[in-house]
Amino acid sequence: MSRTDFSADLPPELAPLVTGSVLNEGRATLVIDAGRLDEAQRGQAEAAIKEAAGRRADVSDVRVVMTAERKGPVIIAVGSGKGGVGKSTLTANLAIALARKGVKVGLVDADIYGPSQPVIFGTQGEKPEARDNKPIPIDGKFGVPHLSMGHLVTPGKALAWRGPMAGSALGQLIEAHWSKDTEVLLIDLPPGTGDVQLTMVQKFKPAGAVLVSTPQDLALIDAARAGQLFDSAGVPVIGLVENMSGYACPSCGEVSNPFGAGQVEAAAQRLELPFLGRIPLDIEIRQGSDHGKPPAALDHPIAEPFLAIAESLQAWLAERN
Ligand SMILES: Nc1ncnc2c1ncn2[C@@H]1O[C@H](COP(=O)(O)OP(=O)(O)OP(=O)(O)O)[C@@H](O)[C@H]1O
Ligand SMILES: [Mg+2]
Repeated sequence: MSRTDFSADLPPELAPLVTGSVLNEGRATLVIDAGRLDEAQRGQAEAAIKEAAGRRADVSDVRVVMTAERKGPVIIAVGSGKGGVGKSTLTANLAIALARKGVKVGLVDADIYGPSQPVIFGTQGEKPEARDNKPIPIDGKFGVPHLSMGHLVTPGKALAWRGPMAGSALGQLIEAHWSKDTEVLLIDLPPGTGDVQLTMVQKFKPAGAVLVSTPQDLALIDAARAGQLFDSAGVPVIGLVENMSGYACPSCGEVSNPFGAGQVEAAAQRLELPFLGRIPLDIEIRQGSDHGKPPAALDHPIAEPFLAIAESLQAWLAERN
């Protein structure tokens, strides 16, 4: 029995998946890291590897062993149709809430043209180190390693980038040196449901998506559209979150509903999607987000809605496993 390198024989996209290979009296055994492949891809990879390795003159039989040890994180996208409804705020605080609950979580700011996460986490101006040309996420102080284009290029510079460049930039962030025990990678998507978002979703194939909406009709229509975008890409919608629902006046305490209330839950019912919870419109959320003090990190009632949504997400993850 001898270790034999088959990489020159295999299709170039499959060769990197081989973590070990031996050849014993004509019988080749190749071990494949299949953690990132779905069922169909596994079947295709197995067939292609058998075919390619079997073509060698010294091989009479090929066995393929699939392992999924290094599964990589579960990618969850946070999206909305409409801009400014609180995707970035929710993504950051949900990540922090998950970290508080012991989940190993990382965050990617996919808003290449208008990154928000460095401000929310208070890590503007920090430059991630790189190893083998891949960035190492910034640790920050809330237990959430994160990466944003805002950390890699000077603000505004990415504005002129075209789609493909933005796509490859995003790939760099997602395929960065996330620590091996990262369980969940939350992706803060840019606003809208255009080609860029669709390509992004197809290319990086999140395991699920969380949709954010305010209670306004227009935001709801756009959220439904975003739901269709995920659907068309085969990404299940985990559920809807209502943001900016109900406003408690800081001086008198009276609760008013500037954008209405409860509409997102009703819409979730109509669309037959789970409702994950509501986050009030609260000046402290905005101030905290603008000053690197995300509310979910506080021991204060303001953290509660984020912790509750984190629990729903944990339940979804548990069911998925
Ligand atoms: N529940 C809330 N209460 C108060 N302010 C909020 C709340 N949610 C978000 N904000 C504020 O609203 C603004 C927009 O939020 P955010 O940047 O998270 O939205 P977005 O959907 O990511 O926007 P974009 O589409 O531009 O990426 C920010 O100033 C943020 O601090
Ligand atoms: Mg945003």
